[in-house]
Amino acid sequence: MKFNTIFEPFRIKSVEPIPVSTQEEREEYLKAAFYNPFLLQSDQVLIDFLTDSGTSAMSSNQWAAMMNADESYAGARSWDRFEKAVRNLTGMPYILPTHQGRAAERILYGSLGSKGKYFLSNTHFDTTRANIEFSGAKAVDIPIAESKDFISEYPFKGNLDVDKLKELIPKYGAENVAAVILTVTNNSGGGQPVSMANAREVSRLCKANNILFVLDACRIAENAYFIWKHEPEFNSHSFLAIAQEMCSLADACVMSAKKDALVNMGGFLSLRDKALADSCTQLLIITEGYTTYGGLSGRDMEAVAVGLEEVFDPAYLNYRIRSTTYLGKALRALGVPVIYPIGGHAVYIESNKMYPHIPIEQYPGQSLVCNLYRVGGIRSVEVGSVMFGKYDERGKLIPSAMELVRLAIPRRVYTQSHIDYVVEVFAEIIKTKSLARGLKIIYEPTFLRHFTARFEELS
Ligand code: F0G
Repeated sequence: MKFNTIFEPFRIKSVEPIPVSTQEEREEYLKAAFYNPFLLQSDQVLIDFLTDSGTSAMSSNQWAAMMNADESYAGARSWDRFEKAVRNLTGMPYILPTHQGRAAERILYGSLGSKGKYFLSNTHFDTTRANIEFSGAKAVDIPIAESKDFISEYPFKGNLDVDKLKELIPKYGAENVAAVILTVTNNSGGGQPVSMANAREVSRLCKANNILFVLDACRIAENAYFIWKHEPEFNSHSFLAIAQEMCSLADACVMSAKKDALVNMGGFLSLRDKALADSCTQLLIITEGYTTYGGLSGRDMEAVAVGLEEVFDPAYLNYRIRSTTYLGKALRALGVPVIYPIGGHAVYIESNKMYPHIPIEQYPGQSLVCNLYRVGGIRSVEVGSVMFGKYDERGKLIPSAMELVRLAIPRRVYTQSHIDYVVEVFAEIIKTKSLARGLKIIYEPTFLRHFTARFEELS
């Protein structure tokens, strides 16, 4: 028998109260935060969809493992468990623990990148791009054409455009392509999955041209679910076996454990090549920590080791993907322009379609983010021209390729009634959408401006 209610495959042992605020109070909070939800206090938020990163609820088994952790500086038992769990997933011989994903990125891309080098990816996540550009290299996004069609049911819109890759390798010169990065799932491209077929093609081309193939594996379990569902070859494989197979195609793997390892902090870099591992290890020791803890405490490593097992549990992954889809479908039914199909960790909304009257230079996505907070205390994030916009020499905005708002769903944190509340808030927002106002930026830093930019609402 198939029931419609989503069965959360856990019961709640410890609760965290959500402070409830009124719309008037939130109006004040928003003004004080310069209309940037990153600058809000978390206790001013009712439903926090800012990120699925580091926001997972840990299991009783993870907490128990943490109590048993070994905090020795070198050769800790907890490092052993961590290393085994990561090796079981990636199959790679060299494993470098880092405090989070971007530390692994800085070490790897800092080693590989310099002026004149290129990185090619289905879509570089913002920290990935920032680390590459910081090294002097260029980051070039080559998603497949289907990724720009937000309506079709095509199941692997996260794929990398292999024809474009074939064209760009000789154009830049294979020796100048520092790496090809496949981000699974493709976070900045709408959270869409990447097929095994695509990963195999990318792997083959990288091997033929002697280019390093890097997997950004932070949501690899969610990606495995979609491969299981949509690539017939894999529908009798376990989710873990699918993820292992994908890793087996790559030369290196960076992972922010704050996503699919179900922890609040952690990450790693794993490599097959000894010479590259040696140079990265130097940087690791200088900037993160000794080789058997990187930036992590023993308890963090224990939590990752357990999380990497739990995330591949079919009951968990079924619940996870079903609940994200539930929100996406409910919003679509209300007429909210959501990206289809719904990805694993988040629902993405096309803000320029939702608010066609707000010009891109006035950031329709930021406007939606502010209204969601105002009306329902929901914190979300703009993934559009605030996050990725650049300026030309005359200071005119070069917009991002897409104007999205992301509702990222923390793992094991909210229940179906929280999600139903979010749907009701959207129903309210849809009613008054013609009144939504644009914003202008009154302060911004050079890198990753969306974190600290300040805005003013336009009348
Ligand atoms: N790669 C991808 C695809 C990511 O989504 C993130 C983080 C990182 C790398 C960097 O990892 O945060 O541990 O340093 N994404 C978060 C998000 C911040 O909200 O999507 P980190």
